[in-house]
Amino acid sequence: MRLTSLLSILARRGRVVLALGGLALLTGCNFNFWRMDGHQSTIDVNGPVAKSQLEVFYATCWVTFVIFVLVASVLAYATLKFRARSEADEHAEPPEQGHGNPLIELSLIGASILALVIIAVPTLKSIGYTYDVPAEEKANAYEVNATGYQWWFKFEYPNEQIKDTGPLVTANELVIPAGRPVRINLRGMDVIHSFWVPKLAGKVDMIPNRGNFLWLKADAPGYFWGQCAEYCGDSHAVMRFRVIALGPKEFNDWLNQQTAPAREVAKVAATDQPKAQFAAYRTDWKTNEKGWTKEFDLNPLDGWRAQQFPDTKHEDAALIAKGRGLFQSKTCFSCHVVRGHMVGGSGAYPDLTHIGTRTTIAAGVLENSSEQLARWISHPDRVKPGNKMYVTGYIPNNIKLTPDDVSALVAYLHSLK
Ligand code: CUA
Repeated sequence: MRLTSLLSILARRGRVVLALGGLALLTGCNFNFWRMDGHQSTIDVNGPVAKSQLEVFYATCWVTFVIFVLVASVLAYATLKFRARSEADEHAEPPEQGHGNPLIELSLIGASILALVIIAVPTLKSIGYTYDVPAEEKANAYEVNATGYQWWFKFEYPNEQIKDTGPLVTANELVIPAGRPVRINLRGMDVIHSFWVPKLAGKVDMIPNRGNFLWLKADAPGYFWGQCAEYCGDSHAVMRFRVIALGPKEFNDWLNQQTAPAREVAKVAATDQPKAQFAAYRTDWKTNEKGWTKEFDLNPLDGWRAQQFPDTKHEDAALIAKGRGLFQSKTCFSCHVVRGHMVGGSGAYPDLTHIGTRTTIAAGVLENSSEQLARWISHPDRVKPGNKMYVTGYIPNNIKLTPDDVSALVAYLHSLK
């Protein structure tokens, strides 16, 4: 084939590709593939640790890109220059084959070593930097313990000791001070999990009986998506969490609110009838159905901020009291701590003292709305197959909840701010 005809075919195809692309744009085709700032992007970094790891990625990309261009150019040159130009060429014997050219072989070995050295320098630098909080920042570092359970994350604040109780404990949403290094001690309670907040730091395993740690820093206040990154059983893929970074004052306010006991709206003894008549929540949820609204995704940090305050206008004290009673009678309290409300619970299950202030439930899988909380309480197995609330809680204890029970429990849990 003549070179000119080859080029004209390429030009025609190029126009088709352009036209299809334009059409896709006009029809509002979603080009998410090209977006680099998704929730779990490692390219859109928001802290020095993730940035250092991204630099290693780019160094490797550039080296391999140069190798690709060199090899592809030689290949293209040889393909065009030595192509068969006639029938006779096509059937000709191959020319005499040569082998053993010390100059070429030594230069290729040298070039390979050079490429590896170019990658090794930023790699070693980054390994040193990301390993632990830099010495000059140690004094300013904040410490948190994170423990992986099947399938949720427990966060402990060893610096915030609550009288007669121990350290502040939360679940699935890790609130940290922005602009300060945070050293996170990592443990696994049952199997190996892995702690990963792509925009802030690369993953480190959470291993039973072995202390691991990592450090990270958020440059500015923000809301970041995290994910367990080590296969850990049925619901590994839905073992998520969030990191919320706050400025100094806001972080302090948050600590004060969280270390306080659960908010009191109504005691169990209330005899009033609930005023609010809830429309029944949906019950036909399917496994893997989305638990998320787009509105929340647009501005999650402001969503989180709004979630910190009680909705006193719409609260129904009698319904909350009913929910509080059910939380006891249905034995929820024997696993979950609600500090200040009832004695019970264990550290092996999510602490619910301030569950109303979290933006997510079920380890970051569902938005913490009334509808999604009702879905989680009524069908935990459809959200997280194999989860302990269902398998070792609901089934052996024969826990059954009517739609009214679910409404009351939702009202109670959401009052816990
Ligand atoms: Cu925990 Cu995967």
